[in-house]
Amino acid sequence: MAEPAFSPPVTVAITGASGAQYGLRLIDALAAAGHEVWVLVSKAAHLVIETETDASLPARPERLAQALIERSGAAPGQIRCFGREDWMAPVASGSGAPSAMVICPCSTGTLSAVATGASNNLIERAADVALKERRKLILVPRETPLSTIHLEHMLSLARMGAVILPAAPGFYHRPATVDDLVDFIVARILNQLDIEHRLMPRWGE
Ligand SMILES: Cc1cc2nc3c(=O)[nH]c(=O)nc-3n(C[C@H](O)[C@H](O)[C@H](O)COP(=O)(O)O)c2cc1C
Repeated sequence: MAEPAFSPPVTVAITGASGAQYGLRLIDALAAAGHEVWVLVSKAAHLVIETETDASLPARPERLAQALIERSGAAPGQIRCFGREDWMAPVASGSGAPSAMVICPCSTGTLSAVATGASNNLIERAADVALKERRKLILVPRETPLSTIHLEHMLSLARMGAVILPAAPGFYHRPATVDDLVDFIVARILNQLDIEHRLMPRWGE
């Protein structure tokens, strides 16, 4: 059998919480590490990306994939995008090829939908599949302050095995730029996925 072209797929869902830069940088870092990246972007996330970054990303999945490949310098076919109701995507079923999943950033709306198993769009369904198949699921929520609803949903997801990794960068590495703050969070996500990186040294190195 032919060798796969890329390292195992990682699914990155970008939802409409502030911090679109985290998700975009994560896609770039995964592509640079040689992984296939499956990308899901919510409608609200497109608005946040437009508001917070200079990136102009098309909504249609094929064109979005092309734009992300050009941005990150990924190889053709390395980044694939799936639409909101693409129920034929591999992430839509437990019988599809397995992948770890990161929701980054994760809105409180998507957090709540995942915690309650709503599965009303492909992001929610893919997370539901990750939970039921006991696959790695990392949520990167960004909201402040947090209500008891948010906290209870985070607790129940953590009890189900998901990793709650808040978009709360530390300052002990003396960040000089916004990119340094973004890299702090992306490095923590890559650590969780056991993917080597040089974004920032591990503590004690
Ligand atoms: C510029 C902007 C910033 C937002 N920031 C946040 C945020 O930090 N956290 C959050 O939970 N929702 C935030 N929202 C609201 C969500 O986008 C909204 O609740 C949306 O319904 C989430 O949908 P989604 O989970 O399908 O992406 C923001 C919206 C906009 C337009």
